[in-house]
This record gives sequence, structure tokens and C-alpha cells, in this order.
Amino acid sequence: MIDSRILVGLLAILIAVSGVVFIGIGEADRRVEFEEAFHGRSIEEGAALYTEYCAECHGLHGEGSPRAPVLNSKDFFENRVQDLGFQGGLEAYIKLTVAGGRQIKENPQYPENMPTWSTDFGGPLRNDEIDNVVAYIMNWQAEAPDLEAMAAAEPTPVPGDTPAERGANLYQGLGCVACHIINGEGGAVGPELTNVYEKGEDYIKESILMPNAVLSEGYQGNIMPQNFGDQLSDDDLNDIVAYFQSLVEGQ
Ligand code: HEC
Ligand code: HEC
Repeated sequence: MIDSRILVGLLAILIAVSGVVFIGIGEADRRVEFEEAFHGRSIEEGAALYTEYCAECHGLHGEGSPRAPVLNSKDFFENRVQDLGFQGGLEAYIKLTVAGGRQIKENPQYPENMPTWSTDFGGPLRNDEIDNVVAYIMNWQAEAPDLEAMAAAEPTPVPGDTPAERGANLYQGLGCVACHIINGEGGAVGPELTNVYEKGEDYIKESILMPNAVLSEGYQGNIMPQNFGDQLSDDDLNDIVAYFQSLVEGQ
């Protein structure tokens, strides 16, 4: 039998230890909370500083301007420091650039130099304020737009080797076939187009771009979509005309 005093002692130790552990857990939680709150405040203060000092050149949301490069882009967050061969990480890179500015422009397209901001170098911002601005910029990372992918997402070229083939594909793809008959195929909402080339290129283009301007005899306006002009380039339009031409000339 264990002496009951020892038991009481053990229990007391157990309770004490669990109490410490409990306080310890609470402490860790509170520290996380505190750090999150601190980080949140830092971003908020950084936002205000950014708006006041940086937005006029880099844009209100880091979208860039003729005076300074884009900061809010996937490419900047993921590739910039590697591209430069800078070893210290992006946060450090931003901090150094902001603190010291750029005495020598890397890119001559910008009219002014990136100014010096740190009070260490005669600028207006304390280093803790620069940390806040950096925290604000880093906060864009999660949703930074992929500008390169957006630029690459140009309309895919219309398939076809000759203008007439591309025109035929456009004719199908844009749904013209639903309303017009060519060689016995298609819908009869609008006039048959098998021989429409004989009416002339300008007439055809105008009929496509501004269907209501010249109404085909016996047909009503506002049935043919009025917005093909927004979807078709000049080349597309010429390709469609080439398609109509091939129908009458049997090319
Ligand atoms: C007078 C216009 C101007 C202002 C104001 C300005 N910048 Fe710049 N910034 C520039 C220019 C120009 C460059 C590019 C310099 C170069 O070509 O090397 C630049 C570059 C940078 C870069 C490096 C970008 C990269 O792709 O390497 C960062 C980061 C930056 N600025 C942050 C800031 C922050 C933060 C502020 C506000 C505290 C600020 N800038 C205010 C003009 C400005
Ligand atoms: C929703 C039905 C509809 C669609 C889709 C449509 N059209 Fe039409 N189209 C018409 C109607 C109706 C007319 C006659 C009234 C007019 O001129 O607007 C017409 C007229 C024309 C004319 C003039 C024909 C003539 O003999 O005067 C041409 C050329 C033409 N369409 C080409 C096209 C092309 C090319 C497309 C596809 C890019 C297209 N249309 C899509 C309904 C349509």
C-alpha cells in the first residue's frame, strides 16, 4: 500500500504540472493570437503608408503605372528574386529596395528614380514603418494576378490553311449556319448566302458589321446579331468574304 501522504503529494504534483501545461497551452494560443493581431495591424498601417507614399507611382493596388513597375503580380512574387539572383528572399529584397531606393535605374523606361525611403538614408520612413509597408505588399501574394497568363490568353487563331477555310470555320463557329442556307444546308431565318458574294465585298462586310444598315429585301432588322463587329478582326472578316467568294468561284 502506498502511503496516503505520498499519494496526496503525487496528486498535488500532478495537478500542479497539468496546471502549468494548461497555462502553457493558453500562453501559446495567446501568443499566436497576439502575433496575428500584430501582423494585421502592421498590414493596416502599411496600407495607409503605401497609399500615401507609393501609390502615385506603383498604382493604388500595385498595378504599376508609366512611372513605376507592377508589384502586384504572380511573376513578381514567384520569380523576381530568382531572376535577379538575389539570395535573401523577396521580403528582404523589397525592404532593401524601399529603404535605399535605386540610385541607378535598372529600367530606363521610368522617368524618375525609385526614391530612398528610410530615415537611415535621409528618407521619410522609420524602419518599422518600412516593415509595415513590406508586410502590406507581401499580403498581396495570395491573390496576385498572373499577368503573363492573362497576356498569353489571346484569342486562339482560327484553324484553317487558306482564308476561305478559316472563313468557313468562322461561319460555322459563330453560328451563322443557324440562320442562313448555303448549298441547301442551314436555317432559313435570313437570306440564302450561297451566291451572296455577287453582291460585293463591301455589301457583305456591312451586312455583317451593321446588319440593320442595309436590310435584305423581305427580311426584318434586329434578328441578325448586331455585335459580330466586336468579335471579328479585319482578317476574320476578309476570311469570311473569301469563303463566300470560294462558293461562287468553286475554289
Ligand atoms: C517617384 C515614383 C516612385 C515612388 C513614389 C515609389 N517608387 Fe518604387 N520604384 C520606382 C521606380 C522607377 C522603380 C524601378 C526602378 C528601376 O528601374 O530600377 C521602383 C522599384 C520599386 C521596387 C522594386 C520592383 C522590382 O520589380 O524589382 C519596389 C519593391 C518598390 N519600388 C517599392 C516601392 C514602395 C514600397 C514605395 C513607397 C514607400 C515606392 N516604391 C515608391 C518609382 C517609385
Ligand atoms: C439569328 C439569325 C442570324 C444569324 C446568327 C446570322 N444572321 Fe445574317 N442575317 C440574318 C437576317 C434575318 C438577315 C436579313 C436582315 C438583315 O439584313 O439584317 C441577315 C442578313 C445577312 C447578310 C446579307 C445577305 C443579303 O443577301 O442581303 C449577310 C451577308 C449575312 N447575314 C451574313 C451573316 C454571317 C456571316 C453571319 C455569322 C457571322 C450571320 N449572318 C449570322 C439573320 C442572322
